[in-house]
Amino acid sequence: MSDDYKLDTLAVRAGIERSQFGEHSEALYLTSSFVFKSAAQAAARFGNQEPGNIYSRFTNPTVTVFEKRLAALEGAECCVATASGMSAILSCVMGLLKSGDHVLCSAGVFGATVQLLGTIMKRFGIETTFVSGTSIANWQGAVTPKTRMFYLETPSNPLTEVYDIAALREVASKAGALLVVDNCFCSPALQQPLALGADVVIHSATKYLDGQGRVLGGAVLGKRDVIYEGVLGFLRTAGPTLSAFNAWIILKGLETLGIRMQAQSASALELARWLEKQPVIERVYYPGLPSHPQHALAMRQQKSGGGIVSFDVKGGREAAWRIVDNTRLLSITANLGDTKTTITHPASTTHGRITPEARAAAGIGDGLLRVAVGLEALEDIKADLARGMR
Ligand SMILES: Cc1ncc(COP(=O)(O)O)c(C=O)c1O
Repeated sequence: MSDDYKLDTLAVRAGIERSQFGEHSEALYLTSSFVFKSAAQAAARFGNQEPGNIYSRFTNPTVTVFEKRLAALEGAECCVATASGMSAILSCVMGLLKSGDHVLCSAGVFGATVQLLGTIMKRFGIETTFVSGTSIANWQGAVTPKTRMFYLETPSNPLTEVYDIAALREVASKAGALLVVDNCFCSPALQQPLALGADVVIHSATKYLDGQGRVLGGAVLGKRDVIYEGVLGFLRTAGPTLSAFNAWIILKGLETLGIRMQAQSASALELARWLEKQPVIERVYYPGLPSHPQHALAMRQQKSGGGIVSFDVKGGREAAWRIVDNTRLLSITANLGDTKTTITHPASTTHGRITPEARAAAGIGDGLLRVAVGLEALEDIKADLARGMR
């Protein structure tokens, strides 16, 4: 499909390969393996002399459509789909690093990412230093001769810290390290990290790409040599591959990505402005607000502020939980990126398993709440939050 098409067109149509039946909607290929015409053809496929599907742990036509579509949206040469966002991060690290390597990771990342890099990968000889704050000098100062990867989310979960991708690219390149960006909060509809200088993009497709809270999925995107030779080698052998069914669901989600992101971002901005005026709210974290420390950078890197607003409630955990417990419409759940608005208390849920020190370093206090704004009427969302504030 032509690269000249706009994102909304690519989101609906990129990657489609019709079968002999000429189906209009993408076909769902529920099959674990593929048959060969002969023993010679089987040998040729396994020996890489003939292209084609072999086994769904390696490739599956429905998953391939998803990979091609997401690659088109991110402007990536190549994409491999994974079973979840966490398996995308795992495949990236296992495929691209080795024992003895060092990772620089921003302290403000999703709790499971902290666990994976800081605890699990450490057992296999990969050390991670968590860098606090968005200052480039902090990253520069933490580089060691063994640093091979910079890892960050921008905006970060849950504090919406925004990192300067182009500036970090310079530092990472000098260090001989890959710059990996988790683009979960923005999705390609609002930000394309590869165009800004990232080497690799990570996705939890569970979030905005599906967009309706139905299935788990993930993806790793970048240049062909990095993804095919590095990540895919690990993935097809170790097996955290995306299922064809989940790929099909997420493909359907991608079709509405642009309009969802636009609508959810617009509501989130309004909600953030309203929250700033509420006396019980101490601080609002939203990149679209002029009060956000990296507002100018966010407006350069992103099309808009995104759908997630976090805020500190005066009175700490008790006051924050009162707001959560008084909601009737919002879903008290850890997921985000759904059409249904969700509310989360990160310190006791998504970031509850990391150490109190790591939480403090990341700036996640007991009064912090994260709202991922959905597609309900904004007035109803405000009214639901206002009840607990009273
Ligand atoms: C920023 C970010 N990255 C990665 C993940 C992990 O994704 P998954 O739950 O699909 O494994 C999450 C999950 O919340 C997330 O918020």
